Amino acid sequence: MSVMTSKTFSLGAELTVDRLGFGAMRLAMGTFAGPARDPETGIAVLRRAVELGVNHIDTAGFYGRDAVWANELIRAALTPYRDDLVIATKVGPLPGPNGVPSGQATAAQLRGLIEAELRSLGLDRLDLVYLRVGGMTGPGHESIAERFAVLAELRAEGLIRHLGVSNVDAAQLAEARAIAPVAAVQNRHTSGMELLAECEEAGIAYVPYFPLGGGVGSSPLDAERLRKVAARLGATTAQVAIASLLTSSPTVLVIPGTGSLAHLEENLAAHALELGDQDLSDLRGQGVPDGPVRCPAPDGSSSGAGEPR
Ligand SMILES: NC(=O)c1ccc[n+]([C@@H]2O[C@H](COP(=O)([O-])OP(=O)(O)OC[C@H]3O[C@@H](n4cnc5c(N)ncnc54)[C@H](OP(=O)(O)O)[C@@H]3O)[C@@H](O)[C@H]2O)c1
Repeated sequence: MSVMTSKTFSLGAELTVDRLGFGAMRLAMGTFAGPARDPETGIAVLRRAVELGVNHIDTAGFYGRDAVWANELIRAALTPYRDDLVIATKVGPLPGPNGVPSGQATAAQLRGLIEAELRSLGLDRLDLVYLRVGGMTGPGHESIAERFAVLAELRAEGLIRHLGVSNVDAAQLAEARAIAPVAAVQNRHTSGMELLAECEEAGIAYVPYFPLGGGVGSSPLDAERLRKVAARLGATTAQVAIASLLTSSPTVLVIPGTGSLAHLEENLAAHALELGDQDLSDLRGQGVPDGPVRCPAPDGSSSGAGEPR
């Protein structure tokens, strides 16, 4: 029996997005230490993604390496934008050399960063902007009220349609929700699922970043439980990981990242993969009592390290 939930989600109770979207960070760089990727391939990947039905692209002005920047590729590949395309972006980390953020923006710097997002994407208004806070290893637990209030002002001015928060804990989400409506929470797949119930209740999209484990070190897609189910279904482990997230909650939006046309097509085909009771039981039977599969980090713990934001 399939337990696949709805194919779409209404973001901010307004924008209908396919729950299987695309993460743009890998367009510029394949690995965190590697060289920039070929921009023409990135453009081809973006065009194919939209052709295959993606209408939710997750990006950030600080996703880049050398002269290759995700926002510029999105603009080059997809303008004029389709009416139903939702581009989600983030501010918070300050752009640094080679796509490695160089610190957190102050409240006073956020307007300039939003203006830069509008310019690089070629938009008059941003569909969804996350305030991305904290460091590389998880939420920093500091107050986000001052910075989120600035984004709320920019939203009131019409520069932003919906607001989100990324890399936050429950207290930070509560702070944000007290200031303005929150349409989406984007937290690391391996650490943040405790906010999923609140998001479900409030109609907030829950977007686990690193849905395939983030490509940190050796591939978490080699996890035994993923392999077992993939072999039974004649699918790949990436497809099973994606399908398990789609199945986990109607509130979850999945944004696998890739700079490869072959991986893109493989990942999007996961929409058609139906997980049955046995599959879900196998996937959740190894210390994962409920919710989606958490890919283990290369060291076997539940988190990896060293990723940019
Ligand atoms: N809010 C935040 O702090 C934050 C942080 C990180 C990322 N993000 C967002 O989350 C998105 C997803 O994260 P991510 O791209 O870093 O990690 P991911 O989606 O978990 O994994 C991407 C990695 O897996 C590989 N991959 C993709 N499809 C594959 C397949 N079918 N088979 C084997 N390997 C495959 C990619 O390599 P290839 O490119 O070679 O396919 C890449 O190395 C990002 O694009 C970004 O939009 C947000």
